[in-house]
Amino acid sequence: MLAAVCDEYGTPDVVGVDYSWPSPAIVSGQVRVKVEAASVNYPDVLLIANEYQISIPTPFIPGSEFAGVIVETTSGAEGFAVGDRVTGTMLYGAFAQEVVIAATALTRIPDGVDKYTAAAFGVAYRTAYHALRSMARVQAGDELIVLGAGGGVGLAAVQLGVKLGVSVTAVASSTEKLDVAASYGARHLINYRTADLRIALKDAIPRGANAVVDPVGGALSDPALRALGRGGRFVTVGFASGDIPRIPLNLVLVKGVHVLGFQFQDVPPDEFVRNENELRELLMAMRVQPHICAVYPLEETAQALAYVADGRAIGKVLIDLT
Ligand SMILES: NC(=O)c1ccc[n+]([C@@H]2O[C@H](COP(=O)([O-])OP(=O)(O)OC[C@H]3O[C@@H](n4cnc5c(N)ncnc54)[C@H](OP(=O)(O)O)[C@@H]3O)[C@@H](O)[C@H]2O)c1
Repeated sequence: MLAAVCDEYGTPDVVGVDYSWPSPAIVSGQVRVKVEAASVNYPDVLLIANEYQISIPTPFIPGSEFAGVIVETTSGAEGFAVGDRVTGTMLYGAFAQEVVIAATALTRIPDGVDKYTAAAFGVAYRTAYHALRSMARVQAGDELIVLGAGGGVGLAAVQLGVKLGVSVTAVASSTEKLDVAASYGARHLINYRTADLRIALKDAIPRGANAVVDPVGGALSDPALRALGRGGRFVTVGFASGDIPRIPLNLVLVKGVHVLGFQFQDVPPDEFVRNENELRELLMAMRVQPHICAVYPLEETAQALAYVADGRAIGKVLIDLT
């Protein structure tokens, strides 16, 4: 089968294309999916660079999120049949014509939802929604600061925060990114390249914010933390800047703020189910559509990964395999 392959660790240009990668073997409980679209996520870039929390031995197929059609099932893969349209997430392996995955890890694509929307809605939108509901615990009327507001997780947090009735302050590096955040309802827009972030946040939210969603880290985290009001929640999601900031604990103490790290497994099980159901309803009612800025063919996976790695993408970048 045709697959994008990482033969050695490095920058996205190490990812090449293999026209004769063997189709994955299948065992009981699994299904084989013909991938139609896959989505690029920042952790894919980190895995290729061998900078992720887990190291995958080379050669491997990157790609963590896909949408496609089931072409083979096994005993133990109850509930799914050949021809079903499904989506799923995995650590790696999605940038290929076929994936083999446990049936329990799949979600049926709702009728009327196209393959691009389905492929783009897994990682970033689920991360943002669980972070907003179970970590930031935002309520309608709250003030929310979103860093990296033009990126995959950040723009999802803007869109979903607005749907939850929150007043969103979007922070990003360009007018282009902020214009997109504004088009989804962000109330305050701050370009941290042209403004002093600390002052701009104080002007935008004089009483202090209720929550921060931070997928970027680096120099942006400190002013965002300072912009929280008493009892505010600071949710750290990732460090796309490549720089892990140090938190001044005196601020945490004096303001009584909560600093929380987002991991899917830390969402309480009952809230996890609630959040997933709410998000699915938003998707089915088309109240939230993922923002897709670029679609590449599988042969150009390296370019797609570079687009994300360089922080140029606005919203989601997809790979088309049809
Ligand atoms: N904890 C979890 O479960 C979880 C789940 C998903 C993602 N993540 C993490 O969340 C982070 C963001 O993921 P994402 O998919 O939203 O990434 P993304 O689409 O690439 O967006 C990241 C944003 O970070 C900013 N940035 C600042 N410096 C950067 C640099 N040197 N290189 C690249 N981007 C830079 C960019 O915004 P500006 O141009 O505005 O600065 C960019 O839009 C990643 O670290 C990822 O690993 C964690």
